[in-house]
Amino acid sequence: MATVHIPDQNRNLTDAAEILEFLRPFGIWYEQWPVAGRLADQATDADILKEYEPEIDKVKASGGYVTADVINVNPNTPNLDAMLQKFNKEHTHSEDEVRFTVEGRGVFHLHPENGPVFSVTVESGDMINVPKGMKHWFNLCDDRHIRCIRFFEDPTGWTPHYIDQGVHEAYSPMCFGPSYVSAAKSAAAAGGDVKPLIKT
Ligand SMILES: [Fe+2]
Repeated sequence: MATVHIPDQNRNLTDAAEILEFLRPFGIWYEQWPVAGRLADQATDADILKEYEPEIDKVKASGGYVTADVINVNPNTPNLDAMLQKFNKEHTHSEDEVRFTVEGRGVFHLHPENGPVFSVTVESGDMINVPKGMKHWFNLCDDRHIRCIRFFEDPTGWTPHYIDQGVHEAYSPMCFGPSYVSAAKSAAAAGGDVKPLIKT
């Protein structure tokens, strides 16, 4: 389940309906796909593409996406830091960035023209698009692990175009997740402030 965090408003959204309503005006769509029991622990990329074929076909049919592949990033990935450096600075693409998270977590920051900067922490089961031309950047969470299905209209369209004087350094690459949400609820129940920056 994704978590949306809007730093300038000190606000978090963890309810699927609220998240959909918040994201819709920015042209971002969000879905949750079932994950429980669908893949073996040692599932290969081919196993993932086979298991999610019905959903993949639906996405391809709806959006003009022609190819899908699986990216698997973990602490043992060669040149991981260099890879991450490509995407943790504010940038755009000339096609949508469409991702289904199979395992692990990550955090997208979105910087729409007509709204505040906000983050979407994604985890297993979350499907999201970043519309073409929208400024954004991406960070892994502390465990540095994510496995995603990526959808492409044309893989060459996914080259990052960096923004001059991007605002990414002004925002913490913080992931929100279940342990943050439970801590926030406890703090709220105790009448205290909800501190937004609890790493999970
Ligand atoms: Fe991107």
